[in-house]
Amino acid sequence: MKKLFAALILSVLPVASFAAAVNVQLDKVDIDLTDKAALQDGLRTFSNYCMGCHSAKFQRYERVANDLGIPDEVMMDNIVFSDAKIGDHMNIGMQPADAKVWFGAAPPDLTLVARVRGEDWLYSYLRSFYEDPSRPLGANNTVFPNVGMPNVMADLQGRQVIGCKQVQVVEDGKKIYDPLTGTPVTHEACDQLTVLPNTGSQSEAEFDETVKNLVTFLSYSANPVKLESQRIGTYVLLFLAFFFVFAYLLKREYWKDVH
Ligand code: HEC
Repeated sequence: MKKLFAALILSVLPVASFAAAVNVQLDKVDIDLTDKAALQDGLRTFSNYCMGCHSAKFQRYERVANDLGIPDEVMMDNIVFSDAKIGDHMNIGMQPADAKVWFGAAPPDLTLVARVRGEDWLYSYLRSFYEDPSRPLGANNTVFPNVGMPNVMADLQGRQVIGCKQVQVVEDGKKIYDPLTGTPVTHEACDQLTVLPNTGSQSEAEFDETVKNLVTFLSYSANPVKLESQRIGTYVLLFLAFFFVFAYLLKREYWKDVH
C-alpha cells in the first residue's frame, strides 16, 4: 500500500511542476542576425528603454559598436548615456537591493537572456504587457503573470487591455472548422489582448518591428560570436571553392602522363 502511494505521488509530480508553468501560446519570430539595421535599431531601443534598469554587463560598448558597424563617436553620443567610456562593460547605476524594494524583484542582467528564455518567449513577453490596476505599477503580463517589471514601452505600443473574445479553436497547431458547415469552431477566451486605437506613437506593425529588432539585438548579445562565425564561415567556403579549382588543375597536371 505504501509503495502504491509513493508511486502515485511520483506519477503526479511532473504534472504538478508543469502546472506551475504558464501555458500561453508564444508568437514566433524570425530573427536575422546579419541585419545590421535591425541590430542598430534594437540597440537604440535597448539603451533608451531598458538600460535604466537592466545591464548587459558581459558586453562592452566598443565590441557592440564594432560588431554593429557603428562609429565610436556615434556610439558615445547616442547610446552611452552614463559617464561610461567606450571600452567599459554595459553596466548600470541602479543597485539590485534598491530595485528589489522598488519592483519587488531585481531586474536581471540581460546579456544572456535570449539564450535562457529563447527568442519567441522574449518577443511574446515584450508585447504582452496590459493594464491591470490591481498590480502595484498598474501593469501585468500574460506571458509572465504578476511580473515586477512595469510596462516601459507603453508610449510606443499604446494602452493594451485584456478581455474576452471569441477565438478559433486550435488543436495541434491546426485551426478547427465545423466539418458540416465549414465555419470556424470558436470558444470564448478571456486572455485576449487588444491595443486601444491611437493610444501609442507606433502602429501595431511598427511596434512588432521595434520589439523584433530589440530581440534581434538581445539574441546577438547572448551570442556575439555567431555573427563572426557566420562571416568566417563564408570565407572558409569561398576559400574551399577556390582551392578546389587549383587542386583539380594540379591533379590533372600530375596524372596527365600516367594515363
Ligand atoms: C523600470 C525598470 C525596468 C525597465 C526600464 C525594464 N525592466 Fe525588464 N524587468 C524589470 C524588473 C524589476 C524585472 C524582474 C521582474 C520579476 O522577476 O518579477 C524585469 C524582468 C525582465 C525580464 C525577465 C527576465 C527573466 O528571465 O526573468 C526581461 C526579459 C526584461 N525585463 C526585459 C526588459 C527589456 C527588453 C526592457 C526594455 C524594453 C526592460 N526589461 C525594461 C524592470 C525593468
